[in-house]
Amino acid sequence: MDQAESLRRLISQKKKLKKSRVLTITGGKGGIGKTCISVNLSLGLKKLGYNVTIIDADLGFSNVEIELGVTSKYTLLDVLYNNKMITEVISEGPLGIKYISSGGDFNLINEGVDLSLFLNNIKILDYYSDFIIIDTGAGLNNIVNNFLKAADEVLVIVTPEPTSIMDAYTLIKYSLKDNDKKINVLINKVKNFEEYREIYNRFEAVVKNYLGVNLNDLGYLEYDDKMMECIIEQNPILLKYGNSKTSKKILTIAAKIADQPPPMENGGLFGIFSKLFNRGGFR
Ligand SMILES: Nc1ncnc2c1ncn2[C@@H]1O[C@H](COP(=O)(O)OP(=O)(O)OP(=O)(O)O)[C@@H](O)[C@H]1O
Ligand SMILES: [Mg+2]
Repeated sequence: MDQAESLRRLISQKKKLKKSRVLTITGGKGGIGKTCISVNLSLGLKKLGYNVTIIDADLGFSNVEIELGVTSKYTLLDVLYNNKMITEVISEGPLGIKYISSGGDFNLINEGVDLSLFLNNIKILDYYSDFIIIDTGAGLNNIVNNFLKAADEVLVIVTPEPTSIMDAYTLIKYSLKDNDKKINVLINKVKNFEEYREIYNRFEAVVKNYLGVNLNDLGYLEYDDKMMECIIEQNPILLKYGNSKTSKKILTIAAKIADQPPPMENGGLFGIFSKLFNRGGFR
């Protein structure tokens, strides 16, 4: 039995999801592994038997397309403005995961657009997907901030550089701590277990003491040259080196996410877009 098979068996059937669980991947800083982890976690969840859709909310730089080796002709904005069906904007990625480019700022919706038609399309996506992974871009621009505020569950990536730790703290303070979000943390690019423990413990204590926020520890990934190699070759590590230490760790993290309870409020992608539109003063 391979690792994916044994982990699949561990995740009890009763935890199979009826509504999609949306995990928004973020971090205070650029280049910390958000896209890499979005792509490989998506593939990991798919290997565990879940239907996965990955949405690129990093406008302008379609990193997911590059790292996953897929291209898309249309975006979610074409569903909103150009009468495209959700099925027309979905591309097929490796292992059968689905890929969608978000395409723009959903807080700046033109008057007269039929939001209910759009939201019905989003419901189809929710119905199809067990997990939806949203990859956000670097920095806290409006688009990222809106997605984060609307999210029920996020994964904050932190790396050992002091700037990454500081920026992650600021991100939680200003964009994530306002409601009952489930905030997962993954420490990436560490030297070893000891470095991870040291960083995580310090980060958790500061966030708890100063912001009163509880974090969910998803563990760590070590610095691995194969990650870089896989990006250059546009072949994710989980596919190229499926048996490497890093790939096994990613699969274990995917299983941990699936096995843990969803956030208190779990409105799926429908819930996120409803909140985005409400915030923009629509509906
Ligand atoms: N665990 C790791 N070990 C070594 N290199 C890594 C690791 N994780 C990510 N990288 C490398 O870090 C670089 C940045 O990764 P990635 O593009 O995923 O970051 P990002 O946070 O999405 O960046 P951006 O903010 O620009 O969107 C890539 O070259 C990737 O290969
Ligand atoms: Mg990226």
